[in-house]
Amino acid sequence: MEKLIINGGRRLCGEVRLQGAKNSVLPILAATVAVNGISVIHNCPYLSDVDAAVQILRHIGCRVDIEGETIVVDSTSVSVWEIPETLMREMRSSIIFLGALLSRFGRGVVAAPGGCEIGLRPIDYHLDAFRKMGVVIGENGGIIDCTCPNGISGKRLSLNFPSVGATENIILASIGAEGETVISNAAREPEIKDLADFLNRCGADIRGAGGSTVTIRGASSLHSAEHSIIPDRIIASTYMASAACTGGKITVLGAEKKHLSSVIPVFEEAGCRFRYDENRIEITAPERLRRIRYVKTTPYPGFPTDSQSLITVMASIGSGTSIISESIFENRFRFVPELIRMGADIRVENGCLAIAEGVEKLHGANVAATDLRGGTALVVAGLCADGETQIEKTAYIYRGFYDIEKYFSILGADIRKVNG
Ligand code: UD1
Repeated sequence: MEKLIINGGRRLCGEVRLQGAKNSVLPILAATVAVNGISVIHNCPYLSDVDAAVQILRHIGCRVDIEGETIVVDSTSVSVWEIPETLMREMRSSIIFLGALLSRFGRGVVAAPGGCEIGLRPIDYHLDAFRKMGVVIGENGGIIDCTCPNGISGKRLSLNFPSVGATENIILASIGAEGETVISNAAREPEIKDLADFLNRCGADIRGAGGSTVTIRGASSLHSAEHSIIPDRIIASTYMASAACTGGKITVLGAEKKHLSSVIPVFEEAGCRFRYDENRIEITAPERLRRIRYVKTTPYPGFPTDSQSLITVMASIGSGTSIISESIFENRFRFVPELIRMGADIRVENGCLAIAEGVEKLHGANVAATDLRGGTALVVAGLCADGETQIEKTAYIYRGFYDIEKYFSILGADIRKVNG
């Protein structure tokens, strides 16, 4: 069994280059299905979720070449609109392929992705929107079978909640629709704008992405294009948290300050100081972190749920009482019992509110990752804890952060991966 072994307590210092955003590369790889040509995607992180997306692309008939951090997808001769359950189950965001298949073929058969470690994650917003656009959906034994007997029509759609995945799926299906689609209460995450930027480079007509109202003029035929994935703002906050918790000083190269506008003030409240240059953020930690009075996760531009576990680790060693409220996913505090094994004093109420009494120090322990972001937060906890931490179930971590041990070693950590 693969494990990460960390000897904590070292101050992390130095420079590190940010990888491309997982939450951009996955929808953009799915979007290449809608392109009748070759997509050249740069700055792709090496992640197991990216491998899963590449497997799906190959299954449906795309030619995929990987050269370093560039993935070249030739979708000229895609021929299959059915994604088998085994491939769908590899990663939850595979549902985004459905919008791309509908756009390309007016047809799509996929397995329902089901719940996952962090919550139920239903797809009702996605399917409701597709139905309004004229898609006929058969759901049988977990298989979602979509046909469009009269084509897909552009519609005015309003989301009950600004769901990232639903916004992306609707954008993708709208490309192949007749007429104009207007999404109100759309998710505003930077990764949505990145998807729209890629599609516009391919000849789509998408306006307003990154804002609450996105307008897509459909029926465009997409051509070959080249695109570079935006930097990963969640990994940026992971490096920032590792500096904060170890009393260190780290420069994150390639970070976009504007993508972190709700995150930086929380670090400042904990006593961290920042310096900015073009596309670089330098964080300097105080000797002891302060408490974080109250943070609530909300859709972008609010505090991201994906960075919540990191803030919880900071709160666990900040002086005083911190309160963290999770409003996006049901099970995002599942890593807290593991953190408690490392000496944290945290009470979770109703699964959605964590009250942390900051302890002086965490100590090393044997723990297991419970999900991607929670697992990464346990690495940060291990980096600042006294003694040895062993983390099992590392596969979760590598879904979102490749070579994590290599990057933290560069910054001065004593961390290694072992098998057995
Ligand atoms: C994406 C991100 C994930 C991030 C999340 C919120 C990717 C690959 N993943 O996930 O890292 O944590 O955004 O920023 O980009 N919901 C419904 N019905 C739906 C869709 C969503 O009830 O049809 C609910 C979900 O259960 C959840 C909330 O809406 O409570 C937000 O989900 P959503 O924004 O769709 O997240 P994902 O796209 O799955």
